[in-house]
Amino acid sequence: MTNSEIVTCANGPLLIRGDFELVDSSGETIDCRRRTVALCRCGASNIKPFCDGTHKLMGFRTEPTIEETPGEN
Ligand code: FES
Repeated sequence: MTNSEIVTCANGPLLIRGDFELVDSSGETIDCRRRTVALCRCGASNIKPFCDGTHKLMGFRTEPTIEETPGEN
């Protein structure tokens, strides 16, 4: 049993829930102050590493459509 989980949101961020520590690339702790945070995975957020909802405006997709999948039709 873990004390945290990561949820992949379709066409959106990664939700992290529970007991965790978020650190930057130099190992410095990023102060979250919450037990649930949404991390941007579209690359367009203005408050990285957190999601600010911009993924909706840019039509971010996490999965290819059938038309975009090689070998499918
Ligand atoms: S995933 Fe939400 S702004 Fe990037």
